[in-house]
Amino acid sequence: MVSTATQIGDFHFDNCLMNAAGVYCMTREELAEVDASAAGSFVTKTGTLAARAGNPEPRYVDTDLGSINSMGLPNQGFQYYLEYVTELQNQPGSKHHILSLVGLSPDETHTILKTVQASDYEGLVELNLSCPNVPGKPQIAYDFEMTTEILTEVFTYYTKPLGVKLPPYFDIVHFDQAAEVFNQFPLVFVNCINSIGNGLVIDDESVVIKPKQGFGGLGGDYVKPTALANVHAFYQRLKPSIQIIGTGGVRTGRDAFEHILCGASMVQIGTALQQEGPAIFERVTAELQAIMAEKGYETLEDFRGKLNYID
Ligand code: SIN
Repeated sequence: MVSTATQIGDFHFDNCLMNAAGVYCMTREELAEVDASAAGSFVTKTGTLAARAGNPEPRYVDTDLGSINSMGLPNQGFQYYLEYVTELQNQPGSKHHILSLVGLSPDETHTILKTVQASDYEGLVELNLSCPNVPGKPQIAYDFEMTTEILTEVFTYYTKPLGVKLPPYFDIVHFDQAAEVFNQFPLVFVNCINSIGNGLVIDDESVVIKPKQGFGGLGGDYVKPTALANVHAFYQRLKPSIQIIGTGGVRTGRDAFEHILCGASMVQIGTALQQEGPAIFERVTAELQAIMAEKGYETLEDFRGKLNYID
């Protein structure tokens, strides 16, 4: 029997596929749709201290090769998502979920995480260190000093399972430096990658999204090779207790298979979920199972991280 079940930290998931933060996760209704689908879990929209309207529209556009967005972290405020995942956690038989969070300053991030620490929620939290779309706020994880400072402070008070969402890195030295930072902390996972920040898509003579004069994060086919490289680079460098969630360019079972081959324990779908809706999880799961069956793999452990190199 082929199984796509997986584990992140102490949490079991019947299926390794789920949504990427930002897609189908703004409201309880959207989250419930993902929960009711073949997905093994959901992650919430990144919640900030206060609710945010986000950037002006148009702020998301599908393109031939994926998508560009500059949403600007529109969300209902982290308490909304914290309440929902806590409610589900207490329902017998519920799937496990991931709560995505970040503050607009280190102080806000600590306020949020201290609230989660004090709450009844015992599940996974993803600290988003990689949003490229809030004007004037750089992607935190590109600043290794700031990242070290924030995580050092976080782990003085936070004892629940925590992971981080990372932007793509593009240089071997940066993979080394980033891994050195993350290996210092008791993180449960890193999630590679957020969108490739600040791309520019042009239609005729105009940008296609309004915020930031058209600059926005790229997702979809554009980003798969970069996502795979980041998943594998961190798989090679991180201590075994830090697992990897692979995100970027997944729309087929083959894409999910490649993320797992590079070392991912769980695989998230963003742009393709936005385009196809939650039915995508059933299709991609079936495609992944068919590839595994053809190759004689019964579990993800049979091929996770076992990428072949050319001698
Ligand atoms: C956004 O809301 O701008 C996208 C979220 C992200 O990239 O982290």
